[in-house]
Amino acid sequence: SRGVAILTAVAARLAAHKRILEETLAPFRLSFEQLKMVQAEMRTAMIKGLQGEASSLRMLPTYVRATPDGSERGDFLALDLGGTNFRVLLVRVAEGSVQITNQIYSIPEYAAQGSGQQLFDHIVDCIVDFEQSQGLSGQSLPMGFTFSFPCKQLGLDQAILLNWTKGFSASGCEGQDVVYLLREAIRRRQAVDLNVVAIVNDTVGTMMSCGYDDPRCEIGLIVGTGTNACYMEELENVTSVPGNSGHMCINMEWGAFGDDGSLGMFLTSFDDSVDQASINPGKQRFEKMISGMYLGEIVRHILLHLTGLGVLFRGEMTQSLQTKDIFKTKFLSEIESGSLALRQVRAILEDLGLPLTSDDALMVLEVCQAVSQRAAQLCGAGVAAVVEKMRENRGLQELTVSVGVDGTLYKLHPHFSKLVSATVQKLAPHCKVTFLQSEDGSGKGAALVTAVACRLAEKASA
Ligand code: GLC
Repeated sequence: SRGVAILTAVAARLAAHKRILEETLAPFRLSFEQLKMVQAEMRTAMIKGLQGEASSLRMLPTYVRATPDGSERGDFLALDLGGTNFRVLLVRVAEGSVQITNQIYSIPEYAAQGSGQQLFDHIVDCIVDFEQSQGLSGQSLPMGFTFSFPCKQLGLDQAILLNWTKGFSASGCEGQDVVYLLREAIRRRQAVDLNVVAIVNDTVGTMMSCGYDDPRCEIGLIVGTGTNACYMEELENVTSVPGNSGHMCINMEWGAFGDDGSLGMFLTSFDDSVDQASINPGKQRFEKMISGMYLGEIVRHILLHLTGLGVLFRGEMTQSLQTKDIFKTKFLSEIESGSLALRQVRAILEDLGLPLTSDDALMVLEVCQAVSQRAAQLCGAGVAAVVEKMRENRGLQELTVSVGVDGTLYKLHPHFSKLVSATVQKLAPHCKVTFLQSEDGSGKGAALVTAVACRLAEKASA
C-alpha cells in the first residue's frame, strides 16, 4: 500500500543519510595503529628538535631546572597572557599555602591584532590598575610573566617571541624580547619599573603549580584555546644548552607538530578548511585538530558539508551556519554532556537559528563526538610519546609520573580527560601516568618559578 511505500522510502533515505554521515566521519576515527604512528612521529620530531635538526617541534629550553621543593616563600606579582583572558595576579606563597588575588582584563581585538605598542601599553595599563586597586603601587614585587607563545629563551628572564599563535598577531613583536617590550611600555607610561624575574610558558606554570603539591609532576599539559606540553628532559640531551648533568624543562610547542607535513595522512578536508580560514594558515596544524579555538570550527565545516549533501537541516543552508566561529567549542562540551544531550543539542542549535529535526540532533551529536574523540586521542598519543621518552631517558622498566593539566576544553568537556588517559595507557603500557588538574596553573606557576629562582639566587649569594 501507499503507507508502506512511504515508510520504506523514508527508511531508505535515513539509511542513506546514515551512510553518508559514517563516510564523512570515518577519517576522524583513528585506529590503534594510526595512533601508534602519531606517537612514533612525535618521538622522532622530539629527538630531532632537541638535537637542533629540522623538526616541526621546536623543543625550546625554558631555563627551569627544578620543580618546587615546598620551601618557596614570599609575595609575587604574576601576569598571564595567552589564553582567553589577560590576568594580573598577586600570589602569596606561605608555609603550606598559596593565596591568590587576581583581576581579569580583556584584551580587545585592536590590542591583540593591532600594533605591539598598543598591546603592551594596554598590558601596562592593566598592571597599573591592579597595583592601585591592591594598594601595591610603588612596591616592586618580583614578577613572573606567563606568556603562552613560542619563545626562544636566553635565560629565565629573556624571551624572544618566535611567532604569535592562537588569535594574536600584534605587529612588531616577533623577534623581540618580550621583557624589553614590556619595559618600553612601562617607560612610555612613566610607570614604576617592574622586577621581571621569569618568563614562563603556561605549560611550565602548570607543571610547576602541580609540582608544588606532587614532586612526581614533571609534565605540563594545556588543552584550552591552544594546546601544548612541557616536560623535564635530561640536560645532556638538550644540544643548545651547555651542561651534562641535571634536568631542564622543555617547552615542546607541540601545537606546531606536523607543520612540516608529517601529519598529512591524518588531515581531513575539514581540517584544511579550518586552517585556510585561520589567521595563520599552514601553522599549528596539530593544535588545530585538538584545541578549543578550532574544534567548533571543524564541527561547523562538517555540518556545512552534510547540509550541502542534503543530509542535515533538510539541506537548507542558513546564514548562521556559514558564520565563522558561531559554533563555540563549549557547545561541544554541552552537547556531549549528560542524558539531556539531545534536548540540549536542539536548544543550542535552535539558538543559532538552525532549524532541526530529531535526526539532525542525533547527527550533530555524532559529529561532535567524532571530532572531540580524535582530539583527545591525538593528545593522548602526544603524552604517550613524552612519557615513553622520559622512561627511556632514565633507563626504567616502569615510570611513575604525574602530568599537571589546565585548559577549559580539558576541564569542561565531559569525556576528554578520560579519553586522553585511556589512550596514554594503551600506547604507553609501561608508564603509570596520573593526571592532576591544576588550580590556576599559569598564575600560581609563574609565581612559583619566580620563587624558585629567588630561592636559588639567595642560596647562591649566601
Ligand atoms: C599555543 C602556544 C603555546 C601555548 C599553547 C597553550 O600553542 O604557542 O605556547 O602553550 O598555545 O596555551
